[in-house]
Amino acid sequence: MGKKIGVGLLGLGTVGAGVANIIQSPEGRHPLVAGIELVRVAVRDLNRPRNTSVPSNLLTQNPQEVVDDPSVEIVVEVMGGIEPARELILRAIASGKSVVTANKAVIARHGKEIALAANASDVYVLIEAAVGGGIPIIEPLKQSLGGNRIQKVSGIINGTTNYILSRIAKEGVTYQEVLKDAQKLGYAESDPAADVEGFDAADKIAILSGLAFGGAIKREKIPTQGITKLNNLDIDYANKLGYRIKLLAVAERLNQGTESISSLPLAVWVQPTLIPEAHPLAEVNGVNNAILVEGDPIGEVMFYGPGAGAGPTASAVVADILNIAGVRVIKDQSNCLDPLLAANSWRSCHLVENSKMIQKHYLRLRTKNSPGVIGQIGKVFGDHNVSIQSIIQFDASEAGAEIVVITHEVEKGQITSSLNKINALEEVNGLLAQMVCL
Ligand code: NAP
Ligand code: HSE
Repeated sequence: MGKKIGVGLLGLGTVGAGVANIIQSPEGRHPLVAGIELVRVAVRDLNRPRNTSVPSNLLTQNPQEVVDDPSVEIVVEVMGGIEPARELILRAIASGKSVVTANKAVIARHGKEIALAANASDVYVLIEAAVGGGIPIIEPLKQSLGGNRIQKVSGIINGTTNYILSRIAKEGVTYQEVLKDAQKLGYAESDPAADVEGFDAADKIAILSGLAFGGAIKREKIPTQGITKLNNLDIDYANKLGYRIKLLAVAERLNQGTESISSLPLAVWVQPTLIPEAHPLAEVNGVNNAILVEGDPIGEVMFYGPGAGAGPTASAVVADILNIAGVRVIKDQSNCLDPLLAANSWRSCHLVENSKMIQKHYLRLRTKNSPGVIGQIGKVFGDHNVSIQSIIQFDASEAGAEIVVITHEVEKGQITSSLNKINALEEVNGLLAQMVCL
């Protein structure tokens, strides 16, 4: 990459600081990260302590300065809210700058206006961080699943409420008590009503629906119910009946046959929902999100991971910055492949020796049923510095016994040398099974 690509940040809060931290420590990441430079950053309060060490001369209280700075090529909007975020995004687009935003509230309401402006100015507006935090879901819907006819997108897409519901289910606390923790952890929106009333999930399902079904829907028409009216008793009763209660967001096409190109009927909603405990969404806990996409011909795929927080969200923002940087590389160096799509390797990697591999082991031994066998086996492991998580004897009879050992994590070489010694013990008749244990 020739000249570094200048990034201007609108916001240096939870997400903005996470993005700055990645850009400022490119070692070990994709080489395009080293080609990005943070050149200007807008904040509200110049004196607020921050979780990042951005030089103070980059900070300004005037976000327009960031957008208008000629050294800023990509504007990253992570300030939140509708205005002035929308206005600043449109201003960046109008001056020929690509935009990355994590702002689902703006995209769910003004996505069409922004997309039309971006197309007219030949720039990109990328929104991976707007849904699912660190989970790649926007790009899969736009690209990887493009050959499918999507039937349904559903899932848990608000980290704050999932964190709250998981803790209520486990600890029986009230939602107000846990909401404070979600705020401290940087999961909640500045107005947490957006999370607990389900509005944030509605913004996100509106965005996913637009991508999955190819047309924007009216955000304000999505029936939305949050978790504020949920009673702990219902969570408890649902558990007893074999269900988990989750704030579910769903967008589903209603006609399975020939579709009308002009208008596709969709059922889109957000609501607390009882999910059978065997369902893949039932054990999605804490700040994690999970999104199920059903398509023809792929069937069902699930995207799972941390749905909020500085690091995961910044990971998604930086992915978008790299996509735009990749396009710049192609423009700068004619005849070159997109550095993100091309098969490439940028450093030499080598495999660790088999004996140095660190794993937990499951071992099943056939032994004589005599006193002290477990002690002898335990001593050999101890002599080789192998720590044992559990050791149990099964099926003891006159004919012998089976001893199952689960170790803590050790180098494979320690297990091999322990087993050589154990196999040589008079009381041991052989190793019947050996597997890795997670
Ligand atoms: P945040 O911690 O409240 O940070 C907002 C930042 O924007 C702060 O640095 C604030 O400045 C600055 N800011 C706000 N209004 C401004 C203005 N008018 N002029 C200049 N600076 C302004 O918010 P966040 O959690 O990082 O969220 C940012 C965006 O990402 C939101 O759209 C949110 O929905 C989205 N998002 C958040 C997460 C998450 O886990 N937090 C995940 C996905 C998406 P000060 O610091 O000086 O107050
Ligand atoms: N407040 C949002 C959530 C942030 O809790 O999911 C991530 O979009």
